Amino acid sequence: MEDRYSSLLSSSEDGAPKKRFSEVQKERREQAQRTVLIHCPNKISEKKFLKYLSQHGSINNHFFYESFGLYAVVEFSQKESVASLQKVTRTPSLGTEAAIPFRSRYFNLKLKTPLNQTSEQSSIQCRNQSSPSSKKLFELLCCAESVDDQLNTLLREFQLTEENTKLRYLTCSLIEDVAAAYFPDCTVRPFGSSVNSFGKLGCDLDMFLDLDEIEKFGTHKASGNFLMEFQVKNVPSERIATQKILSVIGECLEHFGPGCVGVQKILNARCPLVRFSHQASGFQCDLTANNRIALKSSELLYIYGALDSRVRALVFSIRCWARAHSLTSSIPGAWITNFSLTVMVIFFLQRRSPPILPTLDYLKTLADAEDKCLIEGHNCTFVRDFNRIKPSGNAETLELLLKEFFEYFGNFAFNKNSINIRQGREQNKPESSPLHIQNPFETSLNISKNVSQSQLQKFIDLARESAWILHQEDKDRLSPSNNQPWGLAALLLPSVANSMSLAKKKKKTSSERIKNLLESIKSSSTENSTATNG
Ligand code: CTP
Ligand code: MG
Repeated sequence: MEDRYSSLLSSSEDGAPKKRFSEVQKERREQAQRTVLIHCPNKISEKKFLKYLSQHGSINNHFFYESFGLYAVVEFSQKESVASLQKVTRTPSLGTEAAIPFRSRYFNLKLKTPLNQTSEQSSIQCRNQSSPSSKKLFELLCCAESVDDQLNTLLREFQLTEENTKLRYLTCSLIEDVAAAYFPDCTVRPFGSSVNSFGKLGCDLDMFLDLDEIEKFGTHKASGNFLMEFQVKNVPSERIATQKILSVIGECLEHFGPGCVGVQKILNARCPLVRFSHQASGFQCDLTANNRIALKSSELLYIYGALDSRVRALVFSIRCWARAHSLTSSIPGAWITNFSLTVMVIFFLQRRSPPILPTLDYLKTLADAEDKCLIEGHNCTFVRDFNRIKPSGNAETLELLLKEFFEYFGNFAFNKNSINIRQGREQNKPESSPLHIQNPFETSLNISKNVSQSQLQKFIDLARESAWILHQEDKDRLSPSNNQPWGLAALLLPSVANSMSLAKKKKKTSSERIKNLLESIKSSSTENSTATNG
């Protein structure tokens, strides 16, 4: 693919100007609308396939991948080509399958004469949509040149590829087609890690049903005698309206959504959602409604990720470290989430001297009139053009930052303080949750309210242990490594403290001991480094 490396975020290291979040979203959305998804037979001639499709218009781009079978994503240059292809598409006419009047952009290709020449089929190259195995990761990390190189390698291997991103926007666009059968002017937008630049291959696809376009109808023509009879009847709250909307969309996806399986309506959650698996793309999807603040926080993270090349590398490694030690899980529960970890890294980078990242309040002071944003009474204003933000003068290495991150949070006064990226400093905890991280926009909310004391303790113990491992390595640097996992690779191995978790008391003492040892090493190593620097 010619644009494989010209990365969607333009967060490329080539110094090219970075695109605004809204521009990326708009472009990607428009691109997805010109794109179709095709389930192909396993044996297929790429050349004939493309030749056939080109009858409907020129193809900008295409790729194949494997999910439950072979799939092709084909992007036309014109939207009209999709309609042209839909026109010649047959609907199933078997007795067991009832067709509904809905034209989707997800097709099945059935060849009348199956291919048998192996030579033709061998040309198909599939794009991998999953992250590397831990074995492969260890190999890559162990042959890296430095810890910095390790963190950058991990980022390169785990970040969403161009194709995976396209598939995410396409999936939202396909779901939007279904939802539009009910709400013709709705939009389904991806948010969360699929778009905030911190997504790892295989992460879930968060999407939200945006009905704001419909609301805008009202504001244009404020005068006039006609009042439209609106959709939602007699509901006492916005929340109930959201639940009703999601409920019908959930039903619709379950019964008629092409490729949607395992639809669950989780309407009583704080943020009601419909969870399903989109089989063709392989994504686990969470569809919410009325969630503009979450989109805004995705934009904020996107900006933080684009401001300094160290941010994403550090976040990916911390997320990976947390996953390796079961601090995070794909099942909801009392564990820390990736979102919380990302905010913790941002906070830590705001606390460096000089700071690597600016505070949200500072980003607010840089905002102009067009950046003003008020959602449900919450001020979500910040500068959106990050070319207006001065780069940091801090030149610390990733290796140092990784070590300091573990030390910082290994010794953080979680019992007293709250993490707050709006002000970039600790605040007194307003309530007694073990871990308090202020939601950047809904400031009365704690994004890690779910975290239990024991999960927090596990995080602290592992952070201390990891800081200890990195300090030990510093000391042993001159001795031969005899092929042991080192640096980041060593941190991803099963932990000692963890394996002792049954004997809780013992663990506590070991963690305290590590803390004390760290303190002593730290004071001596600061002396050393001052000596060498001098
Ligand atoms: N979110 C939030 N408050 C929370 C949890 C989530 O505002 N307590 C918002 C954040 O914008 C987050 C998004 O919802 O990015 C999606 O949540 P989630 O899927 O849990 O996190 P991701 O950032 O997408 O990370 P992951 O890769 O683990 O899915
Ligand atoms: Mg997510």
